[in-house]
Amino acid sequence: MTPVPTPQHCPSPRELDDLELLTTGALTPIRAFNEPGSPISLTLPADVLEAASAAGEVELVDPEGLPLARVTIPGGEVTSLTHAQYGPFRQHYLSPAQTHARYAGRTFVPVVDALTDHQLAQLREAGPVVLLALVGTGTPDLSPVALIRATLAGARHVPDAAVVAVPLASHGDAAIDHELGLAVTTTYAGGDRVLGLTEGGRLPDDIAAIVAADQPAPDEQGLVLFFTGLSGSGKSTLARALMDRVLEQGRRTVTSLDGDVVRRNLSAGLTFSAEDRETNIRRIGWVAAEISRHGGLAICSPIAPFDRTRQQVRQMVEEAGGAFFLVHVATPLEECERRDRKGLYAKARRGEIPEFTGISSPYDEPTDADVRVDTTGRSIEEALDDVLGVLRDEGYLDLTGSTQESASAPSPAAPAPAPAPAPEDEGPLKVLFVCTANICRSPFMELVARRIAGPDAQLQFASAGTHGFRDHPMDDVMAGTLPEHGVDGPGSFTSRPLTSDLVREADLVLTAEAAHRSFILDDHPADFRKVFTLGQFADAVRGADPALSGRDLLAAIGQRRGSADATLDVDDPYRQGPAAAQTAARHIEGLLRVVVDALTGSRKITP
Ligand code: ADX
Repeated sequence: MTPVPTPQHCPSPRELDDLELLTTGALTPIRAFNEPGSPISLTLPADVLEAASAAGEVELVDPEGLPLARVTIPGGEVTSLTHAQYGPFRQHYLSPAQTHARYAGRTFVPVVDALTDHQLAQLREAGPVVLLALVGTGTPDLSPVALIRATLAGARHVPDAAVVAVPLASHGDAAIDHELGLAVTTTYAGGDRVLGLTEGGRLPDDIAAIVAADQPAPDEQGLVLFFTGLSGSGKSTLARALMDRVLEQGRRTVTSLDGDVVRRNLSAGLTFSAEDRETNIRRIGWVAAEISRHGGLAICSPIAPFDRTRQQVRQMVEEAGGAFFLVHVATPLEECERRDRKGLYAKARRGEIPEFTGISSPYDEPTDADVRVDTTGRSIEEALDDVLGVLRDEGYLDLTGSTQESASAPSPAAPAPAPAPAPEDEGPLKVLFVCTANICRSPFMELVARRIAGPDAQLQFASAGTHGFRDHPMDDVMAGTLPEHGVDGPGSFTSRPLTSDLVREADLVLTAEAAHRSFILDDHPADFRKVFTLGQFADAVRGADPALSGRDLLAAIGQRRGSADATLDVDDPYRQGPAAAQTAARHIEGLLRVVVDALTGSRKITP
């Protein structure tokens, strides 16, 4: 049994007593908008009103454009064109005339919330009743469909009760809502008795279960985690780290809607004008709300500079039944500009990028954030802990217990999960190396890995660039280091850009830097068990069971990977001269020896 919240726009019993005296046929049904003294008004946007006045009428349509009614302008007289043909519990939506044809002579009872045992007792005393479920966006606590479900369940507790659903949206004003509730109830009663139920009592179990299913606990509800902040504030990195935690815990699936990624697909072609930014954010909000409707989890990380648009997203999500959790990544402009990871602030200062957020386009600081984090001088883990703490405290998601296990320090108490049995004919293991342009580090990795593996290994090597051009030759300086590493030269190597197909086909993707890994995971988040930096993977191999090789080794590391810490990156030697190329070459060769020997199963097993 659940205590019952107070209904907000239900006519109170006292007023309904007064009303009963009035309902002696004196009230006529409302047939027009904007009648003097009528609480029902139709407000039209100025341009629509102008066109409608010229035409003498306006047509009301449903969200799909199907005409529902015609209204004369001026005059406000309504002609019904059709009745809605679909929608849950459609058979319960009756007009006053239909209701009267079926139920004249009964007692009419407005219902705006789940019925309690106390109210059901009053109904049992009342003789045959019509329960008028007043459903609309103003239903105090239940969704419209759940109010009808709960009212139908209530009707089963009463000897003779019919349920009629009446759409009645709230106007956001208690007095108007109350007046409307009365007008609609008396119109439906059409002279029959109206009964107002008194409050109090508890919900019977069957009705309580309907209420509970309609209002899931925060940890069972759809959830939209929305990170907003300036470019370079750390939004994407934090969102990415949070997503990793969710995937590691494995209890929920997750969809990432990162600003840069969305602009490459869902919002491709939009500019950074205020109007296009709003469109971009509303698209993100719409998709996220749909995800939350199904109880899913969406992590969004666009700049979303305007408060008004963020509010619209909040509303869309809440109307879909999801929870909206706003994280303000409040790293100050000076720090974002100091980092300038993409070099965009410098360009914006030079006037080369118009309308740049923080420089030449505004950012409205949120006042409604659930948590605010400034990443200045803090590690991602520390900043993430702030977010995780509030998420847990507000009851949405507890990821604080899911510690990241490091593959380089396996705990003896927790052995690696048994690797999945290998399918019979899987062919050679495909390893893809990735750097930025595919002309320097990744070709070196591909060529030297092939040499280390030798001709008989069941390994295939390839490479590509996150921003690679097609058919460029390997960089001369880096190519110059190849002979020292046992490879004659680049041969017929030419560069190519990374594609989704290349990522999909690979069994293992090894990147030069953590940034390349993030780039890939932005578009392929589910592949987090096979995309590593070369340094991270070598580190994980060193800590893995030495008896494992090939796909078994990949499976074990996929379960227990280390962190893709930027200190393990292979620095970019491009255009840094021969000494930098040699340093990078030696660094790569050292890492490849560990990785390739482990994959082929030829690493020395030291007791
Ligand atoms: S939003 O304003 O519409 O929310 P969104 O998050 O999609 O922005 O895209 C921001 C990203 O686009 C930034 O991280 C930056 O890399 C890039 N960008 C390019 N031009 C601009 C600009 N004028 N203002 C801000 N970011 C820009």
